[in-house]
Amino acid sequence: MSTWYLLGAGNMGLLAAYYLLQAGFPVTLLRRDTASPLRRRLTFADGRPSYDLILPVLSPAALTEPPRHLIVACKAPYSATALGQVPLTADTQVLRLQNGLGSLDGLLPEGVLPIEVVTTSAVKQDGPEQHQVVAENETWMGGGDAAPDWFEQLSAHWPNLSWPTDFQHRQWHKLVANAVINPLTALHDVPNGRLLEDRELQRQAAELCREADQLFTALDPTWPGDSLPRVMAVASATAGNTSSMRADVRKGARTEIDAINGYLLRRAAAQGLSLPAHERIVAAMTSET
Ligand code: PAF
Repeated sequence: MSTWYLLGAGNMGLLAAYYLLQAGFPVTLLRRDTASPLRRRLTFADGRPSYDLILPVLSPAALTEPPRHLIVACKAPYSATALGQVPLTADTQVLRLQNGLGSLDGLLPEGVLPIEVVTTSAVKQDGPEQHQVVAENETWMGGGDAAPDWFEQLSAHWPNLSWPTDFQHRQWHKLVANAVINPLTALHDVPNGRLLEDRELQRQAAELCREADQLFTALDPTWPGDSLPRVMAVASATAGNTSSMRADVRKGARTEIDAINGYLLRRAAAQGLSLPAHERIVAAMTSET
């Protein structure tokens, strides 16, 4: 069975590696530091026994042939650096497990379209080498015509994983949630639930949703255009959480603003549309970091 190579051992990369191992697929982490295997303890909020995840590591420069399967789970702004040394061919199957959209555009060989992964599952780091699987919600894959041959085996071990026919709408719903919740909570340094309590944040959320709906309706007239209640439902379900962008700002890391709101602005520009609220929030985030 061919090895799955992983770029990015953050919360989501580790979760994917865990399910792949459960399904019997070998997983190797690609990173420069190959001194020792990666060891992480996964704990589960539902009380399941913890799991000690051990991944062999390999330097990308040591790959003797292009990987057959590659998971890109690093944060979007680090994609070019992470992919830099990995040899890829038109036969490499790339799974993109990142927030935002378009972060691999121009980085893959001609004709290679990544399989996109959108998840509403939640994992948080709760120690230097320990991560807690907080919720195993729905995960959707798509981006190709049909599910690949390994999908059935993987979905038997990855809870609530599906290959839906309306994948693009699901991906756009997640993108809008990220485009509203992430920068607003990052700029105001508040948990997600503050969007439900603060009038000014609600006004800005409504504006951001309206503009996103305008763009997606222009791209696809069947877009439901109901982003605001959906985004507020996500903010409510994750009320106590720190968004990933707020966490990035707090640790001084690069944020995913370009792959999220920046992506919306690029798609809008190609349609001749302007999205002033998204422009303002990108500018505010850019001066913040
Ligand atoms: O990026 C995140 O933090 C999450 O995807 C979500 C739910 C949109 C905000 O916390």
